[in-house]
This record gives sequence, C-alpha cells and structure tokens, in this order.
Amino acid sequence: MTLEFEYSTLAHPPDIQQLAVIFKQCFVNALGGEEAYMNQIGVENFRIIRESQQLIGGLATLNMGQWWGGERLPMTGIAVVAIAPEYRGSGGAIALMQHTLKELYARGVPLSALYPAVQTLYRKVGYEQGGSWYIWEVATNAIGVREQPLPLQPVVPINHQVFHELYQQQAKLTHGYLDRHPAIWRRLIEPDENEQVYAYLIGTKDKPEGYIIFAQQRTHNGEIIFVKDWVLKTAAATQTFWSLLATHRSQIQQVRWKSSAIDTLTLALPEQTAKISTQFRWMLRIVDVVKALSMRGYPSGIETELHLEIQDNVIDANNGKFILSVANGRGEVTKGGKGELQLDVRELAPLYTSLFSPYHLQIAGKLHGTETAISAATQIFAASSPWVADFF
Ligand SMILES: CC(C)(COP(=O)(O)OP(=O)(O)OC[C@H]1O[C@@H](n2cnc3c(N)ncnc32)[C@H](O)[C@@H]1OP(=O)(O)O)[C@@H](O)C(=O)NCCC(=O)NCCS
Repeated sequence: MTLEFEYSTLAHPPDIQQLAVIFKQCFVNALGGEEAYMNQIGVENFRIIRESQQLIGGLATLNMGQWWGGERLPMTGIAVVAIAPEYRGSGGAIALMQHTLKELYARGVPLSALYPAVQTLYRKVGYEQGGSWYIWEVATNAIGVREQPLPLQPVVPINHQVFHELYQQQAKLTHGYLDRHPAIWRRLIEPDENEQVYAYLIGTKDKPEGYIIFAQQRTHNGEIIFVKDWVLKTAAATQTFWSLLATHRSQIQQVRWKSSAIDTLTLALPEQTAKISTQFRWMLRIVDVVKALSMRGYPSGIETELHLEIQDNVIDANNGKFILSVANGRGEVTKGGKGELQLDVRELAPLYTSLFSPYHLQIAGKLHGTETAISAATQIFAASSPWVADFF
C-alpha cells in the first residue's frame, strides 16, 4: 500500500510541541532541550510530514553557504531527520527528504549537505559522501614547539563576531568550508556542562594572523583541551598555536582539534605522534546541477570541456546531457553534448568535492566515462581534500 504523506512548514504551537516530543525520543535527549534547539534554528526552518493528518516526523534546514573553488554557494544543511518509531519503515523519511529537496530546488539552492546516521536512506535521495570531519589528538608533551613568534590577545568576554572576518578569509581558501549558520557560531563559544571556554587572537590586536577558541575539560582519561575552532593564516600563527598548547603540558594531557583527513597542522610537529580520534564523512547532494557547476570556482590554469550525462530520480530538471566548459577559473553550463561521462547525480557529489578522483570513482563502479572525459574531469576537479570543521 502506498501511503499519502503531507509535507509542510512548522507554525502551530501543538505541532511544535509534538515535533519536540518526537525529537526527544528519536535523539535520546541529545539536543539539550528540544524547544530551545528549535528556537535557535528558527521554527520557520523546520519541515514536517503528516500521514492521515497525524504529524509523524520532521527535520531542520540550516540555510548557509559553502565554499568551492574560492566561491561561496548557497547550501542548506539538513539536520535532525526524525520519524516517530510507530511510523517507521513505511517511507516517511524518504518522502520528507524528497519534498525538502524539491523545495530547495524551487528556491534556487544548488547544494545540500548532512551528517548521516544512516547512509542508505540519504543515498536513495541522491546524497553521497562529500568530505571529511575529523578530530585529531596529540599528547601535550609530544608537541615540542617552544618558540612563540606572535603575541596572544585574550578575547573576554567572547563574542563570535570578532572572529568572523578571519574565519571568512580561511573559509574562502578551504575546499568545502561552511559560511556558518548563526547557530553554529553560537555553539562554538558556548561552554558545555563542566567546561570553560577561552579564546585568543593570535598576533597584534590591529593585525591578527589567526585565532584559537578552546575548552578545557576534565574527563575520566585526564584533562584535555578541545580546540573548538581555529584560524591560522601564517607560519608564525601556526607556531604560536602549537606553542600556546604546549605550555599547558603541566596540567593538560591531551589536545584535540578538528581538521582535514590530511591535516597540515601535524606537519609542524616533530614526530608523527598525532592520531585521528574520530572520523566521519558528511554527505553532499547536488540539488541543482546547472547552478552548482556554474557558480563555483575552478583551477585557473585550465581550459577544457566536460560532456556529462546525469540521472536524477528526484529532481527532473537535473536529468540529461550537459556540457561544462571551464576557462579562467569559471565554468559555464549548456544543455546537450555527447554525454561522455555518465553518472547518477549521487556520484556527482564526490566528484564535485574532489573527495575521490574520477579514476577512482570509475573503478569503484560509480561513474562511466571515455578516456577524454575522465582526463577532463581529473583536471577540472583537482583540489585539496575537502573538509568541514562543523558538525550540524
Ligand atoms: C532514520 C529514520 C529517520 C528513518 O525513518 P523511516 O521513516 O523508517 O525511513 P523510511 O521508511 O523512509 O526508509 C527509507 C530507507 O532508509 C533506509 N533506512 C531507514 N532506516 C534505517 C536504519 N535504521 N538503518 C539503515 N537504513 C535505514 C532504508 O534503506 C529504507 O529503505 P528500504 O526500506 O526500502 O530499505 C528513523 O529511523 C529515525 O527517526 N531514527 C532516529 C533518528 C535518526 O537517527 N535520524 C537520522 C539522523 S541523520
């Protein structure tokens, strides 16, 4: 039997309360107060799904941006996808996601990203692995960086606006970085239970070269510093970052920080003592093929054409043949062409983000292409390993 689902925005107090009850049960109280979380994201940014008039689940949309090839593209993050247990397994989550994606397309949003609890569900609606979210750790007594070339300016009280400009400069140069949602900024400076948050600008007040925001925590494995956010624009700032952390070694055992799967911060350490403590890959959905390919930046030295043939079982307009012409760091998309690189819109995600090379995607059975197409795609999508610093 095919069920009829009704998709809508969230507005009425009884619906808000009902969705909060569903979130509480689905996420085992992890949101730290469901209604407070909903207010932080903005009630108008939630979407709900009903079956026979009964509200059975919902999700949050976080409208923000993401940097690709030095350009910021609108990107909607999806969070807290939830269906009440008694309604699961009947296609409710799929229907909710399909409606949301169609709405995003209609609103002109080219990209959507999420952190999957179940990859199968999101693959069915066109998401695929897009980049990394890694937490690294090192013992403070293994940092070994003593010299501190730059002064440190404590930021008290912490106001996240102070960091926006520096962050934006790093984001523009970091493949996949977010133009953060205000709720993400707020969470970076808010202490969790049993922790204190500290922030420093690195460099002089007039000319900061970076910053660090960190929390000190007492855990059952000893005391740790968790670096909640960092921007380091120069080699002197990187050295200052490490020397500041090393000066904590009399009381703090470990330092953790978020970085790429290929972390350049560890290159400044004397030995390979840093380890990955948590790894996760977020997923990306190319919601609007034409916009996603034409709004981003590309490597500036190339001039080539890629003939694509795309299949999308949710968004009709993404189906068919497209030519992507790249020159002077920009891309232009026209309909038609020879369709030499054939792929599902899902597999366009790891190609777009440079998480995997076209050659490796081909041998993993994710795309099919002529030699010419694989070679053009390799040039067009050559970039550093994509990553995001924020979980949402
Ligand atoms: C995950 C969740 C939203 C799925 O809701 P649902 O309505 O049962 O999902 P659907 O019936 O639409 O399932 C669609 C597909 O998703 C996949 N899927 C759903 N639940 C899954 C699970 N627990 N594990 C693995 N795959 C799952 C299946 O492939 C399913 O398709 P199939 O039945 O044809 O194989 C629901 O189990 C839930 O609310 N869980 C708790 C909260 C949570 O973890 N949310 C995800 C946050 S990212």
